[in-house]
Amino acid sequence: MVIELKGIVKKYFIGKPNELSVLKGMTLGIEAGSFVSIVGQSGSGKSTLMNILGALDRPTEGEYLLDGVAVAQLQDDELSQIRNQKIGFVFQTFNLIPRISALANVELPLFYKGAGRRERRERAMELLRLVGMEDRMEHQPNELSGGQKQRVAIARSLANNPSIVLADEPTGALDTETGNMVMDIFRRIHREERRTIVLITHNEELAKQTDRIITIRDGQIVGDQSTGNKAATPVPPTASPVSPTAAPASCLLSPPSSPASCLLPPPSYQGVRL
Ligand SMILES: Nc1ncnc2c1ncn2[C@@H]1O[C@H](COP(=O)(O)OP(=O)(O)O)[C@@H](O)[C@H]1O
Ligand SMILES: [Mg+2]
Repeated sequence: MVIELKGIVKKYFIGKPNELSVLKGMTLGIEAGSFVSIVGQSGSGKSTLMNILGALDRPTEGEYLLDGVAVAQLQDDELSQIRNQKIGFVFQTFNLIPRISALANVELPLFYKGAGRRERRERAMELLRLVGMEDRMEHQPNELSGGQKQRVAIARSLANNPSIVLADEPTGALDTETGNMVMDIFRRIHREERRTIVLITHNEELAKQTDRIITIRDGQIVGDQSTGNKAATPVPPTASPVSPTAAPASCLLSPPSSPASCLLPPPSYQGVRL
């Protein structure tokens, strides 16, 4: 199991009159190499669950083992390290950094990992090829369509070779056809790259394309079914060759358009570094 949740509870406004229980005791295991969807109505707790799965947030109660590591007890810097090494994120709104190229966006996590210029560039180009964006590498996000932006975001999510890709409503801002194309990419990444993929969606048609559908309602798991699609053999974990906290090896943009472009912030979500 790459993910094991036991009795996960998440509450907001604890001890106040408006205390809110959003996750009400979730127990769940996800096998390495599987392609799982989590479906549920808006407000059912999907994003709250994703934040916990992605070590962006800690549960109020319960245990979370990620690759055997107990996440709930970790300090912020350790959480950040786990996220960086093990998890790739894809969001509904793409979350790309504006005014830098697709290539620079994909290079950014590698830059913060301390990878050298040539390694970053080669890896980022390989990933952009994987998602069919080799012709648009030099384009900035505002020059790309929604589907193209999401393909770049998927490439970026894979930059640090994560064992798990978490995608929160990745097709939510796209039309049906573009959404299907994005799903095709996830399926290919699952099959060819053998990653564990957790797809959060409220679209049941998309969920049927995954191996397993977990249904949540009002903060609880109310359904868990296999679709009959086959899981992939997981990719063996690889040791990270460089420290995720290593200083940037060199300026990301070359030539830098301004000295400040050497100081691009790392990819983040709601103020938390990914
Ligand atoms: N940071 C927060 N503080 C307070 N309430 C929150 C917070 N995040 C989510 N909630 C509440 O938790 C519930 C579930 O939200 P969410 O996990 O975003 O659902 P979903 O992604 O399924 O739409 C909602 O009622 C939402 O208002
Ligand atoms: Mg949500």
